[in-house]
Amino acid sequence: MVKIRVFNGPNLNLLGQREPGQYGQRSLSEIMQELESFADSCGVGLDHLQTNSEGVMVDAIQQAGRDGVDYIIINPAGYTHTSVAIRDALLAVDIPFVEVHLSAVTSREPFRQVTYFSDIALGVISGFRGESYLLALQAILNRIEP
Ligand code: DQA
Repeated sequence: MVKIRVFNGPNLNLLGQREPGQYGQRSLSEIMQELESFADSCGVGLDHLQTNSEGVMVDAIQQAGRDGVDYIIINPAGYTHTSVAIRDALLAVDIPFVEVHLSAVTSREPFRQVTYFSDIALGVISGFRGESYLLALQAILNRIEP
């Protein structure tokens, strides 16, 4: 069975309360539940982790390498614009990944228009609120289905 792991970075545990105009009204657990059901219905294994810590994210990405994860969906949140360490972890495990954002990062402040991930990602999905994750999963399914 294809294994997909989803990583969510800092402050995404506050979805629903946090700047709903940017990030939508739904909580992270609602969004992840919907994503897991979609994955289930398509016969792929999907699990997820949210952390506010850069080191925990790096360790978890290394663990994904040892666990034989096939694809990663990652929203590095604030670390998108700063983290060489998370980028290096993704390069080290060499697991193909889709970068996801709820908001349209390229239409926001200049510092958000710089991402440390997009040049090494399979692709970037940004601006569709919680639906961005479903679109990322669909993009992966399209690659694995004959
Ligand atoms: C975000 C965009 C980032 O700029 C921001 O720091 C986040 C969330 C998004 O999903 O739109 O925390 O990654």
